[in-house]
Amino acid sequence: VIRVEVPLGPRTYPVWVGAGARQHLRDLMPRSAGRAAVVTQDGIDFAVNCGLASETFVIGSGEKAKTLATVEDLCRAWARWGLTRGDVVVAVGGGVVTDTAGFAAAVYHRGVALVTVPTTLLAQIDAAIGGKTGVNLPEGKNLVGAFWQPAGVVCDLDSLATLPERERRSGLGEMAKYAFLGVPDLDRLPLEEAVAACIRSKAEVVAGDERESGRRALLNYGHTLAHALEADGGFDLRHGEAVAIGLVFAARLARRLKRVSDEAVTRHEEVVNAYGLPSRIPTGAEPDRLVALMRRDKKSTGGLTFVLSGPDGLAVVHDVAEDAVRLTIEEMTQ
Ligand SMILES: NC(=O)c1ccc[n+]([C@@H]2O[C@H](COP(=O)([O-])OP(=O)(O)OC[C@H]3O[C@@H](n4cnc5c(N)ncnc54)[C@H](O)[C@@H]3O)[C@@H](O)[C@H]2O)c1
Repeated sequence: VIRVEVPLGPRTYPVWVGAGARQHLRDLMPRSAGRAAVVTQDGIDFAVNCGLASETFVIGSGEKAKTLATVEDLCRAWARWGLTRGDVVVAVGGGVVTDTAGFAAAVYHRGVALVTVPTTLLAQIDAAIGGKTGVNLPEGKNLVGAFWQPAGVVCDLDSLATLPERERRSGLGEMAKYAFLGVPDLDRLPLEEAVAACIRSKAEVVAGDERESGRRALLNYGHTLAHALEADGGFDLRHGEAVAIGLVFAARLARRLKRVSDEAVTRHEEVVNAYGLPSRIPTGAEPDRLVALMRRDKKSTGGLTFVLSGPDGLAVVHDVAEDAVRLTIEEMTQ
């Protein structure tokens, strides 16, 4: 089991990674806690022992459960159970659980301690690390949220044994992103070391820019198109699959803008294909609609904004010409 630290001054916390990492859960409980509210979903079945009196609270599955209504249900159930300010919330699940329970923990009693036990590859290398929590509104994904750092994270690889293959592959889409952020040898490392390397990379970026005023935005590499494909609603894509398409799109757009050569595009396609992920925009995608959705991206200040590679590595590029974006979408549509 590997220990990675997210260095955030007084809010520094450990992340335990490896098979059997859940043995460290008890040590992450705050001293003040008398009870632990465990939040999970049906079908996850990953038993945890917090070493405290605990009760399990089950939320619904999928993006449709990531709502303010679920947050209200959780807070009310916690209040009825008697969860106090000194107690702890333990989120056991994928990104939907860690985002929703994390946000509820951030607002219940104006903030109670949170420990996360991510059980999808995607949540282990991304969603559960870095302190972003939140829920969706009918108007858009992740529109309400809070920065709320956990007291600790347990990435137990044993929990992945029951993960459906498609969810595992979705996690590899985020892993591909880390490869382009400069994490070497991800495809060759044992899983434990690959997960730890991704977490170290995210921890380093988050430590330097906790509230995303600068470099943290680079973690959105591949995400501008990915979010548009997800928001479109017409495609059956997991988050990591959409990111994989978004990564290849970003490379092709950068080539069109003469920031990178053909070789960069080939490399992006090779990495994504090696993980068995899609690299083309699905049939039926409408460029007008995708462009409109991309204008609404959170990084955007009105124009079209992307994280793109270039001679000096990745950078946030504002006001990209719409024509270039449109032509790149067309060149990538099956
Ligand atoms: N906060 C952040 O920084 C951040 C970063 C990336 C993604 N996210 C969010 O994460 C969410 C996606 O997370 P996800 O991909 O983990 O999806 P998810 O949480 O919906 O999990 C996918 C499915 O797998 C099931 N599952 C989870 N663990 C399992 C296990 N061990 N065995 C069997 N089934 C299991 C879940 O019940 C669910 O049905 C999105 O809402 C996204 O916005 C947040």
